[in-house]
Amino acid sequence: MSISLSRLVDKIKPSFTLQMTARAAALRAKGIDVINFGVGEPDFNTPAHIIEAGKKAMDDGYTKYTPGSGMLELKEAIQTKVKNDTGVLYDTNQVIVSNGGKQSLSIACQALFEEGDKVVIFSPYWVSFPEFVRLSGAEPLLVDTVASKQFEPDFDDLHTKIVGGYDFKTTDRSIKGVIINSPSNPTGGVWSDEAIIKMLEISKANNWVVISDETYEELVYDRKFTAIDTLNNVGAEVLTIRSMSKTYAMTGWRIGYAIANEIIVKAMSKIQGQTTSCPNAIGQKASVAALLGNQQPILDMKNKFQERRQVMFDALNSLDGVTCDMPGGAFYMFPDFSAHLNKETKDGKILRDTFDLSDYILDTASVVTIAGDGFGAKGYLRLSFATSSEIIKNGIKRIEESLKELK
Ligand SMILES: Cc1ncc(COP(=O)(O)O)c(C=O)c1O
Repeated sequence: MSISLSRLVDKIKPSFTLQMTARAAALRAKGIDVINFGVGEPDFNTPAHIIEAGKKAMDDGYTKYTPGSGMLELKEAIQTKVKNDTGVLYDTNQVIVSNGGKQSLSIACQALFEEGDKVVIFSPYWVSFPEFVRLSGAEPLLVDTVASKQFEPDFDDLHTKIVGGYDFKTTDRSIKGVIINSPSNPTGGVWSDEAIIKMLEISKANNWVVISDETYEELVYDRKFTAIDTLNNVGAEVLTIRSMSKTYAMTGWRIGYAIANEIIVKAMSKIQGQTTSCPNAIGQKASVAALLGNQQPILDMKNKFQERRQVMFDALNSLDGVTCDMPGGAFYMFPDFSAHLNKETKDGKILRDTFDLSDYILDTASVVTIAGDGFGAKGYLRLSFATSSEIIKNGIKRIEESLKELK
């Protein structure tokens, strides 16, 4: 029997970062000593008090469905955390808890966009942003960024792409929103307050919804993080996404949340209720402990990441033909390897793009990197420093040896 799949399946791309993780696991299973700079999660275990709260939740019978948009107790904990961080007090009706920030993002796009719409996404982008937009039926409108300025928007390119714009006011009514991600995956870039304010002003003038993905909000190293809501004096329509995953080393617990206008949250809850019923109950109880409990383990993790950031930065910049700016946040470096493209391997293969380069590094050095081409950034590789300083030094040394073999 021939199976006919929906057009939706053809429309979206598989997550190639997850594919690289699977490839690394397969090589390790064969006994190969693989160094994985592809990881998108902290290498630390979830702090002990959060794990205890998860165990207690099961013993106390939190093993059943919860309200579709999340437990009130967790929404109140989110309300408290956000109030402490930003000074802004949200109503619990403005909060939806999902199975990871990814689910919040996906249903936000489905609630807000549809066929015929366009959504501004800045390139390099996290691989899932264009796919969330496509899943909703809309199309991404890709806009360049400036690498030397923490990958802030290239406002000239934005001006050109939104067409008809006098003072950034576009006549293209099909543009419905914009996705911002600072600190960024894949670049680690942290935008200046001025750049975010400018995007808020442009969005307000054009009636766009701003989706601000603040998944890496606690991992900002050189300055204090400024949540978009604290900069929104113009009153743009903002939807903020946050996650327990990276901050609390809880990627497997699958809890993230969104804060937005009550009307948007209600629409998202309707979609979520008919797709996953509710977020994971045990994860929700553990998240209450994470948000309201001892924050020292989070600060300790951040300090470790900051140390490793310096180690990877120094190691990468010591390589011939590689340049890398210091990322202000997250746990990713985004070096420019373009000087090594179009070179020839010992087997006579020409490295045309960073997919080829990343494959070459994996095959010859057993080091996993992620091709920037997959994030819309030709010539770049993404390397995660969520691993020990020793492994970082060792891995970059191996890359150096492989690069030396190229002609
Ligand atoms: C930029 C960004 N947003 C959102 C997520 C989603 O995280 P989660 O679904 O684990 O909350 C990730 C995870 O890699 C990410 O990098």
